[in-house]
Amino acid sequence: MNILLIRTSNRALSISNKLADKVLQTCQETAHTVPNVQILNVYDLPHIDKDYAESLRSRHDNDDANSASLLLSDALIQQLVSADVVIIATPMHNFTVPSCLKAWIDHVVRIGKTFTATPEGKIGTLIDRPVYIAVSAGGLLDGRQPDFLQNYLQTIFETIGINSLKFFVIQGSVMGENHLEQEWLSIKQKIDAHFHQNKSL
Ligand SMILES: Cc1cc2nc3c(=O)[nH]c(=O)nc-3n(C[C@H](O)[C@H](O)[C@H](O)COP(=O)(O)O)c2cc1C
Repeated sequence: MNILLIRTSNRALSISNKLADKVLQTCQETAHTVPNVQILNVYDLPHIDKDYAESLRSRHDNDDANSASLLLSDALIQQLVSADVVIIATPMHNFTVPSCLKAWIDHVVRIGKTFTATPEGKIGTLIDRPVYIAVSAGGLLDGRQPDFLQNYLQTIFETIGINSLKFFVIQGSVMGENHLEQEWLSIKQKIDAHFHQNKSL
């Protein structure tokens, strides 16, 4: 089993990374085999370049283009395709995903590679697989602030054929140690319950 762990925060004490590590650890404990884990840090991933944008506009792959983005995209898509399980650690930034995660998305959501465009809309071409999203938000996600993160990730993964998303969220990460401690207790229970009930992994 191949697990792809994507990290987006470069903070030494990143809460989303710690949360994703807990997901990974529990996933490993409950797996039937010893998984192979690949870690991808995307916080310094470059944005797509103009050749990549042109290639997508023309709706076909320009293999002759000497584009760093197209080559990087090929590699990132291959890495995603090879993953049986994906774990993404992400803070909420300005109500949505950090720009580095968006940069990764722009590289892997690619016409002719991970989805096809039809008159009815985009149809994903990847095989479904579990994607665990470890989210850390400074504030509460109880309606007092917009949440464009969870729906966005659900929609964008569905676009490429991946529907099995599970979110584990720590909210109010800046609301003091007591609050954070309670969040950890609660989320650890949810992670344990999920993986110990899900025998398919
Ligand atoms: C640029 C930036 C924007 C942020 N925007 C939000 C936000 O919209 N909502 C929120 O709840 N927290 C926001 N935060 C706080 C982070 O989500 C929070 O500190 C999170 O726990 C950081 O995760 P990490 O520890 O994995 O880096 C923002 C932080 C940064 C640096």
